[in-house]
Amino acid sequence: MEQYIIKGGNPLVGEVTIGGAKNAALGILAASVMADEAVTIDNLPDVRDINVLLEAIGQTGAMVERKARHCAKINGKTITNLVVDNSYIKKMRASYYMLGAMLGKYGHAQVALPGGCNIGSRPIDQHLKGFRALGAIAEVKGGMIVVEAKELTGAHIFFDMVSVGATINIMMAAALAKGRTILENAAKEPHVVDVANLLNAMGASIKGAGTDVIRIDGVEKLHGTEYTVIPDQIEAGTFMMAAAATKGDVTVKNVIPKHLESLTSKLREIGCEVVEFDDAVRVISKKRLTHTNVKTLPYPGFPTDMQPQMTTLLALSEGTSIVTESVFENRFKYIDELNRMGADIKVEGGNVAIVNGVENLTGACVSAPDLRAGAALVIAGLTTEDYTIVDEIKYIERGYEDFAGKIQGLGGNIQVVETEKEIQKFKLRMG
Ligand code: EPZ
Repeated sequence: MEQYIIKGGNPLVGEVTIGGAKNAALGILAASVMADEAVTIDNLPDVRDINVLLEAIGQTGAMVERKARHCAKINGKTITNLVVDNSYIKKMRASYYMLGAMLGKYGHAQVALPGGCNIGSRPIDQHLKGFRALGAIAEVKGGMIVVEAKELTGAHIFFDMVSVGATINIMMAAALAKGRTILENAAKEPHVVDVANLLNAMGASIKGAGTDVIRIDGVEKLHGTEYTVIPDQIEAGTFMMAAAATKGDVTVKNVIPKHLESLTSKLREIGCEVVEFDDAVRVISKKRLTHTNVKTLPYPGFPTDMQPQMTTLLALSEGTSIVTESVFENRFKYIDELNRMGADIKVEGGNVAIVNGVENLTGACVSAPDLRAGAALVIAGLTTEDYTIVDEIKYIERGYEDFAGKIQGLGGNIQVVETEKEIQKFKLRMG
């Protein structure tokens, strides 16, 4: 089993280039099958979730051509199989985007009930509610979500909560429905806007993405296009936090600074210097940072996907910080692992962490419970001069391309190892 071994203690310094946004790319790839012409998607991150979805798209009969490491060409003209079900896809939450895409285009789809990162119960009631409002039958049968409609008709839908997944899913189906759909209380995340932009480039008529009211005028069919995925704001944010935690100086390149504003402002609040450029941000941290309070919220609030990395930073900052997780119910599972590294954090009521800052963390053997928490444990390891081993890095590989390589490029000592011999070799090299 692959692990990371880390010997931290030195600041991360230099430049890192951010890849395409995983969560935008997942929606975009699913939407690409909605045309009977070629859709070429560039700036795809080469991570496991993307590769699994591409494989699943191939299994529908669509033509999938990997033109380059970060570019794929998809043509949905040859789709014959509207059932998406394999052992990998079950582990991936975003597989449900195939429902909206295929329901819109063919009036039928079946997708295995999604898994994904273990961050709490993740209902899909808002997706089902949206599909039903468009006139589909939507039910869960034998571990599959089954959606079916003779004809989809535009509707006025008010989501009960802000859901990225439901907003994207219903937007896709409504793009080919008859008449106008209005989505209220829609998610405003950059990846919602990115999927809407792709659909519009394919001939859809979607207005208001990025606000909480999206208007979609259904069109007869979509056509081929070429599209580039936006940069990954969470990968960028993760490197910003790593720079801050290691008292480093990192320029995070190929980003949209506007998408990072909630992070930039928190970092500044706790004493970090952040310089914004047109398509880069530079994070400089020279001294011990100070405490603050953070509450995760839908965009433009502080992202839940950055909560573990921020908490790790606050674990090392002076004073007591309070971190409230308000999006997912089970996203503090990594706290026990951080405490094993010497952090002093108490979780109260399941969704509030009281973080008493400590001067230093110590190395330990820890296990990544999910993607972002795994990244946070790596950041923790990079701050301590001891050796840290992070297990279950398969979660991290779901969403970060070449994570260890990018950290090495900034001077961090981290390596993927599989055997005790490789661990010993790394330690020998570190002296
Ligand atoms: C997306 O998940 C992301 N995943 C998540 O990123 C991210 O944490 C999340 O949005 C919030 O930003 C992808 O884009 C593939 P939601 P999603 O629907 O769409 C509840 C990562 O680390 N809810 O916005 O599944 C839900 O339980 C991952 O990259 C319902 O109750 O999130 C949650 O509490 C992890 N019913 C809240 O809404 C529903 O039908 C927000 O979930 C749908 C959601």
